[in-house]
Amino acid sequence: MRRAVCPGSFDPVTNGHLDIVRRASTLFDEVVVAVGTNVSKNRLFTADERIGMLRRACADLPNVTVEGFAGLVTTFCTEHDIAAIVKGLRAASDFDYELQMAQMNSSLTGVETVFLPTSPERGFVSSSLVKEVAGFGGDVSAFVPDFVHAELRARLAR
Ligand code: PNS
Repeated sequence: MRRAVCPGSFDPVTNGHLDIVRRASTLFDEVVVAVGTNVSKNRLFTADERIGMLRRACADLPNVTVEGFAGLVTTFCTEHDIAAIVKGLRAASDFDYELQMAQMNSSLTGVETVFLPTSPERGFVSSSLVKEVAGFGGDVSAFVPDFVHAELRARLAR
């Protein structure tokens, strides 16, 4: 049984994240989407809201589960018998930081990191840009699931 984790903040989940999760689910027997709940001032959605959105968005993927995690991703991997961390790479600019984290995580516990290139049509999509564009009234409906788009609009209208 090969189990992988897709860790992230997912504030909120985008179609780019879901593309990576879906493709990871074809490569591994089980995929756990781990939603980081470490305290941060800049979250638009609470941890429970982010986890709920991920569960709904991944409901059609039978070998994918969603959990919150706090602390180190390597601790989560050890506790859940996870062999690999799957990360999407959008552009070369992602690589330096992701490589550093992959090497740190590997040196901590030996866990491997697998990089998947994002699909070209999603290479520019990020949660922060989606929030910024939506915050100024731009249409981000192509970049997130419909129900996330509705929750985003409702949250930003407050
Ligand atoms: O979606 P993000 O914000 O890029 O996700 C970042 C996340 C949650 C994957 C990353 O910050 C993380 O793994 N945090 C847990 C703390 C940790 O393990 N830090 C050491 C990394 S080498």
